[in-house]
Amino acid sequence: MSADTAGAWNIADLRELARRRLPRGLFEFMDRGCEDEVSLRNNRAVFDRIKLKPRVLNDVSDRSQSISLFGQRQEMPVAIAPTGTPGIMWYEGELALARAAKKAGIPFTLATTTLTAMERIVDEVGGRLWFQLYMYADRALSRWIAERAKTAGYEALIITVDSATFSNREYNLRNGFTIPITYSPKNIVDVLRHPRWMTGVWLRYMLEGGLPLFENYPPAVKARVKAAPMGRAMKLNDALNWDDVREMRKLWPRTLMIKGVLSPHDAAMAADCGVDGVVVSNHGGRIIDGALAPVEALPAILDAVGNRMTVIVDSGFRRGSDVVKAMALGAHAVLVGRATLYGVAAAGEPGGTRALNILREEIDRVLALCGCRSIEELHRGFLMLPEHIRAAAPK
Ligand SMILES: Cc1cc2nc3c(=O)[nH]c(=O)nc-3n(C[C@H](O)[C@H](O)[C@H](O)COP(=O)(O)O)c2cc1C
Repeated sequence: MSADTAGAWNIADLRELARRRLPRGLFEFMDRGCEDEVSLRNNRAVFDRIKLKPRVLNDVSDRSQSISLFGQRQEMPVAIAPTGTPGIMWYEGELALARAAKKAGIPFTLATTTLTAMERIVDEVGGRLWFQLYMYADRALSRWIAERAKTAGYEALIITVDSATFSNREYNLRNGFTIPITYSPKNIVDVLRHPRWMTGVWLRYMLEGGLPLFENYPPAVKARVKAAPMGRAMKLNDALNWDDVREMRKLWPRTLMIKGVLSPHDAAMAADCGVDGVVVSNHGGRIIDGALAPVEALPAILDAVGNRMTVIVDSGFRRGSDVVKAMALGAHAVLVGRATLYGVAAAGEPGGTRALNILREEIDRVLALCGCRSIEELHRGFLMLPEHIRAAAPK
């Protein structure tokens, strides 16, 4: 395996390396969607239906994919999405992913349900750091976590609002894969079949005192967390409403984003509440099955709020051409979830870096082949859109 390539030529290769390295229960937790996985498949299929319309003979010898996001210049139009458990895919995986993001000059989002304390990411890595917050049934808990992120110095807070209740991921129940890990005969066999993960991650944590547990919860809550199927550690808040967002707006003085918006009406409500940005997202097809792809929702949302707030999109991005298509539609940036998580699961920090390098090279190549020197030059004229997206796109 070459150090430069990490043995991968594209994101699909990194996914395959991750699949071989991780216990099946863990890989499926990362890779799969929910219920019949219609959203998961559609998130990818929609990119196949959006065609590029390249221009030629435009001297693209001097080109750049940098963008300005929340007033700061960054080298790629991409940031790292919050994902719950890089630290269980790889030993101290959150630090590895944050380092890869810093090296690439892009923001890294730390999720609430991670295994590394938010202060360690600030102290040991730094760079542009965003924090993602779930709103729990115990509102005081969410406020406590947000205050802690503020004190730690996080530049932005992303509140994920698409999870009024737990999603239906039958494979997690079938696999019996829980956090904290429970030891069933099936899990033990699964882990024994993956010795690189067992020794490189699980055993390493065990030698240092055990698997770390949701280090960003208050200690008392952390101690109460019982083994639950992956992603179900704490009760979420099904009474969440726009007043909670207004409350958070008062508490959080820096950049505030809402993640998990698919309707122009909700995006407009977020703007009215003083939110700085929305992440148009169906959570990578992991929450509600059958929901439209964020890229399908994007034109109408941009039409509703694109000049009032920052509009970021995620779900299903695996190729540089996907990113170029979203930017040509008018997105201000793209979040990547699994693409970099596969990289970290396959090879730690170098794997995360490899995922970002692959995306950077692909974006650069597609820009050049489309006759574009910069992201700013992209517009919808570079796309042939399927009828249902064209109908939703403003003229
Ligand atoms: C394993 C995994 C864990 C995730 N955990 C969170 C989370 O804790 N909070 C959150 O807002 N989104 C979470 N997400 C969703 C991502 O932030 C993002 O919306 C999604 O991964 C985008 O789709 P993609 O994976 O196809 O890029 C998670 C996604 C994955 C794959």
